[in-house]
Amino acid sequence: MRTKHVKALVSALFVLPLLAVTFIGNGAAKANADSQDDAAALYKKNTCFACHKADASKSFDPEKSDEHHIEAILKGIKGEKPPYMPAYEAKGIDAEKAAALVAHMRALRAAAN
Ligand code: HEC
Repeated sequence: MRTKHVKALVSALFVLPLLAVTFIGNGAAKANADSQDDAAALYKKNTCFACHKADASKSFDPEKSDEHHIEAILKGIKGEKPPYMPAYEAKGIDAEKAAALVAHMRALRAAAN
């Protein structure tokens, strides 16, 4: 009886760190998935698709640099005639979210081609 308890305790001591590692590992993978999900949600919520289409095929040139695109999202672009690209910095989109949105638009565009 006692040895059983000791065995259970010992195996718990080995299993728990393993579980912890597994959960932490999953957490990291999930964080990545979340940032893509977040970008997809932001793309919908901020109605980016209304002007850029669901597949990011309009007014988005994937040849241009990430810096250019991030700047466009944060500061907006005043074009020749409306609709203009709005500035999203004041609407709670920071550089990190903008970068995730650019990655999302690139992925949409790649999937559409
Ligand atoms: C009201 C319409 C409109 C909305 C809404 C809009 N955009 Fe734009 N966006 C534009 C237009 C028009 C341009 C092109 C401006 C130009 O180059 O003259 C543009 C340009 C861009 C560019 C630069 C593309 C390039 O090739 O230079 C990016 C990146 C971008 N938008 C991302 C977004 C994201 C992300 C959202 C949502 C958070 C969004 N846009 C919402 C109209 C819009």
